[in-house]
Amino acid sequence: MTTETVPFRLEDYRPPAFTIDRVHLDFALSPSATRVVATLSLRPNTEEAQNGTLELVGDEIVLKGLMLNGIPLDAGRYEALPASLVIRDVPLAPFTLTIETEIDPAANTKLMGLYRSGSAYCTQCEAEGFRRITYFLDRPDVLAVYTTRIEARRSEAPVLLANGNPVESGDVAGTDRHYAIWHDPFPKPSYLFALVAGDLGLVSDSFTTMSGRRVDLRIYCEHGKEGRCRYAMEALKRSMRWDETAFGREYDLDIFVIVAVSDFNMGAMENKGLNIFNDKYVLADPDTATDVDYANVEGVIAHEYFHNWTGNRITCRDWFQLCLKEGLTVFRDQEFSSDMRSRPVKRIADVRTLQARQFPEDGGPLAHPVRPEIYHEISNFYTPTVYEKGAEVVRMLETILGADDFRKGMDLYFERHDGEAATVEDFLACFADATGRDLSQFALWYAQAGTPQIVARGHYDGDAKTFSLTLAQSTPPTPGQPTKQPMHIPVRFGLIGPNGEDLAFSSVEGAAVEGDVIHLTETAETIVFRGVASRPIPSLLRNFSAPVRLAIDMSADDLLFQVRADADPFNRWQAAQTLAMRALIAGTADVLTGRPVAAQPTLATGLAEVLDNEELEPAFRAQVLQIPSEADVAREIGQNVDPDAIALSRRQLRLALARALGPSLMRRYQALGVKAAYSPDAADAGRRALRNALLDLLVATGEDEAIAATTRQFHDADNMTDRLAALASVSSAALPQRRELLDAFHERYRNDPLVLDKWLTLEATVPAAETLDRVKALLSQPGFAHSNPNRVRALVGGFSAANPTQFNRADGAGFDFLADFVLDLDRRNPQTAARLLVAFRSWRALEPGRRTRAEHALRRIAAAERLSSDTLDIVTRTLA
Ligand code: PHE
Ligand code: ZN
Repeated sequence: MTTETVPFRLEDYRPPAFTIDRVHLDFALSPSATRVVATLSLRPNTEEAQNGTLELVGDEIVLKGLMLNGIPLDAGRYEALPASLVIRDVPLAPFTLTIETEIDPAANTKLMGLYRSGSAYCTQCEAEGFRRITYFLDRPDVLAVYTTRIEARRSEAPVLLANGNPVESGDVAGTDRHYAIWHDPFPKPSYLFALVAGDLGLVSDSFTTMSGRRVDLRIYCEHGKEGRCRYAMEALKRSMRWDETAFGREYDLDIFVIVAVSDFNMGAMENKGLNIFNDKYVLADPDTATDVDYANVEGVIAHEYFHNWTGNRITCRDWFQLCLKEGLTVFRDQEFSSDMRSRPVKRIADVRTLQARQFPEDGGPLAHPVRPEIYHEISNFYTPTVYEKGAEVVRMLETILGADDFRKGMDLYFERHDGEAATVEDFLACFADATGRDLSQFALWYAQAGTPQIVARGHYDGDAKTFSLTLAQSTPPTPGQPTKQPMHIPVRFGLIGPNGEDLAFSSVEGAAVEGDVIHLTETAETIVFRGVASRPIPSLLRNFSAPVRLAIDMSADDLLFQVRADADPFNRWQAAQTLAMRALIAGTADVLTGRPVAAQPTLATGLAEVLDNEELEPAFRAQVLQIPSEADVAREIGQNVDPDAIALSRRQLRLALARALGPSLMRRYQALGVKAAYSPDAADAGRRALRNALLDLLVATGEDEAIAATTRQFHDADNMTDRLAALASVSSAALPQRRELLDAFHERYRNDPLVLDKWLTLEATVPAAETLDRVKALLSQPGFAHSNPNRVRALVGGFSAANPTQFNRADGAGFDFLADFVLDLDRRNPQTAARLLVAFRSWRALEPGRRTRAEHALRRIAAAERLSSDTLDIVTRTLA
């Protein structure tokens, strides 16, 4: 067993004993021996500095030189270890420290700190990567002004980039080297530091801000991929404009640079003025990117750009406050995309993601509050809870306050905390102060983990013309939190009348109702609506106004009515999903007891009507057609899960639906046929989504005509969306024709790693017994690289997170495979290894046979020697 480590606790927060006002960094780049000279202007900050001992952190650092106020320090004054530098008897007045270190970017397989991606140099410092470059007070509440000088061989790295504005550049006389100096006037924490150097292609543009300043915009990428950066550049300009109009936020430097790299642990990084991206969130053209890829590029470009205000200008006091920047910035990027595209469809997509990723986290061993209070390894807290649930909490704040008051609170936040490292309390205080509202109960959303459940019951009294609605809330226990307090839950609602319109009511009793929002604050409340003309169908949680589960006993006919008539598009979709979920759960029970799976006429009727309703946008209809996934059903069942039974029930339901919809499926598919040239805009993407959802249902029938149409679409498509959709349908139905098509796809895109990722994922997600062997074989194919996180996630992540029947094989071979892979990867890239391991998070919900095998695999990992803190943390909590 690896040794126990001491956790970090929010309650232990202390301000730094010293602070650093200015940092001068000098990099002499060389692949395996880069010299870094850091000159820090330090100043004692608190009483604690009085003992005169300065403690800086490092990570695998080799010290080459150390001076205090320009004078080399005696060896007796300090102790330098790879992970710390402790200096005694430092002045109790401002002083400078000059630290020379040597690092090896080429050997940096963790992709944290300074590393190589292809032939370029790049950095990743969030959360704790800067300490792999030099010893530092590597914590977000130490804000300094950085000047960076970079020197490298001109032929090796003609492009030299760092944060801020360019100051100076030129040749180093008498050598083949050149240099560039960058200065960032905005104080920032070390996690926002960045440097890039290499031989890179460039796309340039410019943007004039609302106050008339011209900003130089640049995207750097691998040579030859410039054409695939155009869409990202347009998305960047849209983001910059949107932040001005929606939040009054203007860009603040003379230049904004994005660099796309192929080796990156996460999606992208908001380094001040120098965002570094996983290239999959920059590069897009019709032949290689799907509509979903385009939407992701737009969303991630926006997200990182929006961090300039929510994250950089106002940063986090400590890592417990991570949601302060991430939840808020996700909320902002979701709003941006809603304005650029279809708001209801974006909402449905976001809720699907929340339910698929955050709900299982919140309901399993890795559950933690939006603002955690304890961690062992901060890298493991870049989670769906911090990001997606964090965004939901901000959205609820907007729902509770209303758009105008929400904006007032945001304005105050920017005004009050600009240039500071803030906390969640600071953030909430701005909304309370700007509006006079009491948000103390609301603050529980940041502190209590677990998905609250609301049980709703309605009763209509026809004589009294009253409708009583009882809402009861409860939040299940989560690790470290056995009991929960009631939360302030905003429940947006409507009372749907017989003609489909929302019924009026004359008065309300029993709970705070403001407009169409019920403020549920007690454990249980009964709300009485008076003057309700006829029996309503309650439409609750409209637009998914809170990240909760809602249980309400509604007949299939009432749900069908809601599908037809709810004024809230989200709840129309939700009602269809509920009907489908009921069918899937009943079907799974039927499979397990050997009964024939029952037909679902109500659901089929609902889907057929939605399909035919030309007033509904195609993207919305596509969402309705997409019934809950196998993982959704497993989560809903919650215990004793048999993934094979769920898969079979889902396949049978889809077959039944396809049969019920009959020949009209093919007619509709053909009617939506491509006419104009490809455009990635939301309307065209929606039409493709609907057409491909139809195709996917058609393929479920296994009929020759359907397969022929799919094969034709695969070959004839003029864009990746349609080609990949055809391939995915054949492949995920495990049809024998898949081999030929998968091979053809591989042949066509063999030299394009990002496209090969899609292929790797399709190979890994075929629901067939031979898939595990195929995955193992692909690990040693030339297209795969253990060192590249995108390849690893596509193949191994695809298998473990997106192939429920094969990862959860009854013989445990899927679990063993993941355990072996994680143990191997952990030695080189612990962050990516730990993330893969999260696939085990719902292991306790499996039926006993699989549960035992999953536990065995987990225990084997836990018992391994020299586990990284990342993997040790996940495996320990998963088993707890
Ligand atoms: N801060 C990044 C974002 O969400 C995510 C990230 C975290 C990237 C840690 C790299 C390392 O925008
Ligand atoms: Zn972010």
